[in-house]
Amino acid sequence: MSSIFITRKIFDEAIALLDGAGLDYWHNAADTPLDLPKMGAQLAEAEAIICLLTDKVDAQVMDAAPNLKIIANTAVGYDNIDVAAAAERGIIVTNTPGVLTECTADLTFALLLAAARRIVEADAYMRAGKFEGWELFQPHLGVDVYGKTLGIVGMGRIGTAVARRALHGFNMKVLYNGPRKAPQAKSLGVEYVSFLELLFESDFISIHAPLNRATRHMFTLHEFKMMKRKPILINTARGPIIKEDDLVQALQQGLIGGAGLDVFEEEPIAHPSLAGLPNVVMVPHIGSATTATRRRMAMMAVENVVSVLGGRRPLNPVNRVLSQK
Ligand code: GLV
Repeated sequence: MSSIFITRKIFDEAIALLDGAGLDYWHNAADTPLDLPKMGAQLAEAEAIICLLTDKVDAQVMDAAPNLKIIANTAVGYDNIDVAAAAERGIIVTNTPGVLTECTADLTFALLLAAARRIVEADAYMRAGKFEGWELFQPHLGVDVYGKTLGIVGMGRIGTAVARRALHGFNMKVLYNGPRKAPQAKSLGVEYVSFLELLFESDFISIHAPLNRATRHMFTLHEFKMMKRKPILINTARGPIIKEDDLVQALQQGLIGGAGLDVFEEEPIAHPSLAGLPNVVMVPHIGSATTATRRRMAMMAVENVVSVLGGRRPLNPVNRVLSQK
């Protein structure tokens, strides 16, 4: 009998935590993606699901798991889970905040710098043996980062970590927008502006918002046309926040200067035209992808499960359930 259903391979240390707590589990150590609604026996027995952001956990999955107490997502974002359906059924949902903040902020800056300084194009040029010597008008003239204006959409943990890098490392002016003003904004030295103002005034725009009804397709052609400074747009949050067809058009029409993308609207597929655009830097959703961070995420997901199955409160709940099952 397995009371914990682990949908994908996780770190040995995390498994050891379950062993130490004397908990039973079914671990998909083969690590191939599962079709969750078809996992009858695993769901029927599950008191906990430990899943990845690629696992869609909806009402159908929950209804096939009558004993389910907790869904522990191994990610900070949880748009893959129907959180309201979970709450209605008394199922706790948890995520992994904090442990991936700095790592994701680093990747954000890596994309920003790579796009601004055309690192990927220049690297390909070197590898192709095309470099013939320093010239004033080299083929890879980019744009300055130091001292420019960065607009951050979503001043949560990751947005704040990106702002710190921009302020202290690159002397940037940092504007931000979000559903509410951030309490840390004043001490940090960032300025709240309207979304429109952020679009008008930014040389770089970086997205750090969760995906939800309010943020889906927050960036369409309409918004790209408002971007007076032709900024470079960075997205390390969730792909569907940008309407990818419109992003391609904006890039093709020169409405924006470039894009640094870690996430895509229909992952794992990226819009086919993106690959042909030299002013785009793309990576495969690696914001949190360092070994140490991924290990911490797995540990945190397991710690939430150990806590809830042990009759204690979850450490990182994202929903409120009236009565914990
Ligand atoms: C990664 O995208 C995460 O949400 O942790």
